[in-house]
Amino acid sequence: VGYDQPNRPQFHFMSKKNWLNDPNGMVYDGKNYHLFFQHNPKGTDWGNMTWGHATSPDMVHWTQLDHALLPYRVDRQAGTVFSGTAVIDHNNSLGKQVGDTKTMCAFYTFAGKPAFYQAMAYSTDSGASWTYWNEGRAVVENQGFDNGERDPKVFWHEPSQHWVMALWVGEKPGRVRWFTSKNLVDWEFASDLMRDWAFECMDVVFLPVDGDENNMKCLIYDASFDYEIGTFDGKEFKTETEALQIGRGNFYAAQTFNQAPNGRVVQIGWMRGGPNAAETFDVPHNQQMAFPCDLSLKTTDDGVRLFVSPISEIDSLVSKTHDLGQVKLSDGINALSGIQNLDLVDLEVTFSPGNASEVVFDLPRVSVRYDVKKQVLNHTGVNDKGESELQICIDKLSSKQGKVSLRLLVDRLTVEAFAFDGQNFGAHYIHPNHGPKTMSIHSVGGDALIHDLKIRELKSTWK
Ligand code: FRU
Repeated sequence: VGYDQPNRPQFHFMSKKNWLNDPNGMVYDGKNYHLFFQHNPKGTDWGNMTWGHATSPDMVHWTQLDHALLPYRVDRQAGTVFSGTAVIDHNNSLGKQVGDTKTMCAFYTFAGKPAFYQAMAYSTDSGASWTYWNEGRAVVENQGFDNGERDPKVFWHEPSQHWVMALWVGEKPGRVRWFTSKNLVDWEFASDLMRDWAFECMDVVFLPVDGDENNMKCLIYDASFDYEIGTFDGKEFKTETEALQIGRGNFYAAQTFNQAPNGRVVQIGWMRGGPNAAETFDVPHNQQMAFPCDLSLKTTDDGVRLFVSPISEIDSLVSKTHDLGQVKLSDGINALSGIQNLDLVDLEVTFSPGNASEVVFDLPRVSVRYDVKKQVLNHTGVNDKGESELQICIDKLSSKQGKVSLRLLVDRLTVEAFAFDGQNFGAHYIHPNHGPKTMSIHSVGGDALIHDLKIRELKSTWK
């Protein structure tokens, strides 16, 4: 199958065909970014969990390769391959390096019966072919929580010169169990972090505060993007915040590229939910990834907070820029008059709502409306039941700043909204046929002032 179906996402990753869920094993090998993903090779619903595989030089243009890790049987146990991480074994800790090519190690949950465990597979040819370590038996045995222990995150901790695994174990109360290893196969218990919010797909990353590399903090988050910021000494996490949350709508189970250049932290999330795309929109796939975003920590009035913002590599997709500058919106004024045939859109705007009741962005396939009184962003997208739903709530921030700043990415089946430089964001499914008839940016019920408006038309990553 090709990528040219009218409703196929054009600047987001999805599998060529069939079902996809969590991103897995995201890692940079010195040349290419690898994105593995939970995949059903046999159907458009969840099942037969396999690691699909794609690579990219820039995280925007992806090539899907052969599936990397497939369900298997060991010691009379049959199981599938659930989520996890990949690392580049830069110092040959495993001792399997062939020539100059560093070994790639993938840690995953073996979803077997009677109970899950964590296992490892490695590749000496940059992910083209894989060997299951010890035939796919455990490197971390079941910890006594049955299937409620999964999705190992593994990373190198430079100050303590060892590898670390963070593993979500135990639903109630939630718990993150930390292990350390020198050789990537013998794992020692280090500590337990009890957290009620923790559920599935823990990720752990290190980020400077306000870009200051002498002030590095550790960010931990789970599948729902509940997060805390603190410190990690190689064995134990100590928090410096309360439990926080970011990211709404169809955004789940995100993770970040291990070993990305210059300490950069880029995240990709699974856009969970929405209607079954294959059944509803005449495409060969179901589900897709959100657009890759840089994570950063910035000091705000409330303390240090996480910001999420689309990677600048998106610039390579821009085919046309409309710089509309300042526009006064009042009854009957459409800031988009004169711009025709929009399709794939990256829109940035800053506005003061004035005495308008709504500021409306009627874009291809979706209408996004800022409700001034409620300080929420509504849209005409679709949830699992095919109904339109509410979007990101931006109240606290907007009342402080008076001005609203927004960025919207519109693809064939999705809209992503980033408010206030990504201090808040939502990723949502839309229905290609439910959008407004005419493209327009206007106010309702009064006058609003746009300080700055930039619309960039994007081209497809598949061409
Ligand atoms: C999260 C999740 C993971 C699991 C995977 C199975 O979406 O439930 O915890 O490893 O999906 O596909």
